[in-house]
Amino acid sequence: MPKRFLMCPPEHFAVEYAINPWMDPAAGADRAVAMRQWESLKAAYESLGHEVCLIEPVEGLPDMVFAANGALVVGGRVYGARFAFPQRAAEGPAYLRWFAERGYPTLTPEHVNEGEGDFLAMDELILAGTGFRTRVGAHHEAQEFLGRPVISLRLVDPRFYHLDTALFPLDGRNVAYYPEAFSEGSREVLRRLFPDAVLATGADAGVLGLNAVSDGVNVVINAEAGDLQLELKRRGYEVVSVDLSELRKAGGGPKCCTLEIRGEN
Ligand code: ARG
Repeated sequence: MPKRFLMCPPEHFAVEYAINPWMDPAAGADRAVAMRQWESLKAAYESLGHEVCLIEPVEGLPDMVFAANGALVVGGRVYGARFAFPQRAAEGPAYLRWFAERGYPTLTPEHVNEGEGDFLAMDELILAGTGFRTRVGAHHEAQEFLGRPVISLRLVDPRFYHLDTALFPLDGRNVAYYPEAFSEGSREVLRRLFPDAVLATGADAGVLGLNAVSDGVNVVINAEAGDLQLELKRRGYEVVSVDLSELRKAGGGPKCCTLEIRGEN
């Protein structure tokens, strides 16, 4: 039940370029506030009994706090990231080095992919987003390296540019998502795979309410996602509400700050 997460303190966090519609370099962001909010997220995980490992933040990489994008780790194997935008390119090797130094088998990818931003591992399958960042070629590359079936899903709304902004696994078998973020075909795939899914409203998706982290019992989720929190409680989940409003100015939420390290199984 306890999970292992990798996080990166927002020591160099800033909004100084715009690579998604949430980012406004003219408005910027307050690094001290972001740090306090990030600390409270880390504390929330630790109070739930999860282990948090840290990676050293690198100067000049203001988005490195979004650890989810750094890799995809399944069965103790690490599929590396290859970022779509040059501003974040150096994060891929930095995260991969962290794992290589600790003895994990790693793969430097050939195809553009942004780690757990676009890959969400469940018990039997890995859900994979494409349309804005991660390329379909990476879905196949990850499937071959990890030996798990990968389901491609197409994202169509630029506000939900990573899969983890539009969908999160509630446990290994069910998900919550915002249907309108997906193409018609992918919506049908989700309907078939997850007939019992929690469907989020545009308002909850619009505060990055789906950028949540569930351990199957507790869901760590943005404070502003009120209706989604109510529905999760109705379904029997414990809701752990966090305020990451400063990190949202870069287009990130709780899940973006969190890379899950899944061991061998
Ligand atoms: N500013 C970052 C970017 O646009 C935010 C990344 C958020 N991460 C995520 N897993 N959705 O790349």
